[in-house]
Amino acid sequence: MNFVFAGPPGAGKGTQAGLFHARHGLPHICTGDMLRQAVRDATGLGKRASEYMRRGDLVPDALVDEIVRARLAEPDCGDGFILDGYPRTLEQARVLDASLASAGRRLDAAVLFTIRDDVLLTRLAGRRVCSRCGMTYHVEYRPPRAAGRCDVDGAPLAQRKDDDADTIRHRIGVFRELTGPMVEYYRADRRLLQANAERPIQQIYEEICGFIEAPEQRQHSRARVRPIGIRPAPAV
Ligand code: AP5
Repeated sequence: MNFVFAGPPGAGKGTQAGLFHARHGLPHICTGDMLRQAVRDATGLGKRASEYMRRGDLVPDALVDEIVRARLAEPDCGDGFILDGYPRTLEQARVLDASLASAGRRLDAAVLFTIRDDVLLTRLAGRRVCSRCGMTYHVEYRPPRAAGRCDVDGAPLAQRKDDDADTIRHRIGVFRELTGPMVEYYRADRRLLQANAERPIQQIYEEICGFIEAPEQRQHSRARVRPIGIRPAPAV
């Protein structure tokens, strides 16, 4: 099963991809996480990406395409993956298709998380992230058991640098402005699905699950999309 989770900042892509990783063992490939790690490690990539990220702009396609291509070639992606936050542009979507095709693979579907901007603002303002393992919480919707501490490793929780009010608004604007052509690309060949991301976490998870066969079933059949509980996106 090869899926993309697409949607604006704060839509819950990472939360859902994390659930699929934990419960189905699918690699969760988040370009934002990979880029933040590169910035922390002060690699060449991190140095080139940091200013774009600080402003809430997209990092140039060529930089992101390369790290995704390398990650998808790793052995754990052989049975499927969830890409979280990639592609975000039409060019990235085309590069992904070409890269998968050259390895005899194909993207099954892109799930578009739909959600209003005022909900996004509330989610991102209340998001807290573990400073050690990256586990994501929300002060109201997904609070840790002990305030300010990660349930997994007890490390302190922090706000992401790009979760200040001005940068959040800019990031949402960038998504609304630049992602449309990518969405139309997947809609045109019927690979676009959409989920109402304003509902509770478990409900969204169950809806997306309708598309995903259990790992033991996938051993016996080619991965395919099952249109259960989630609707193909209507034409605009
Ligand atoms: P990235 O890290 O990918 O950020 P993003 O796309 O802005 O998405 P977020 O991680 O902010 O949100 P999310 O949808 O994962 O929501 P989450 O699950 O955390 O990218 C950062 C930067 O890297 C970009 O700005 C760009 O510069 C660069 N970059 C990355 N990819 C790139 C690419 N392909 N091309 C170019 N540049 C790229 O949830 C948010 C909060 O809501 C959490 O607190 C969570 O607990 C809560 N929550 C989640 N679901 C629910 C729910 N159903 N109900 C209530 N609360 C919920």
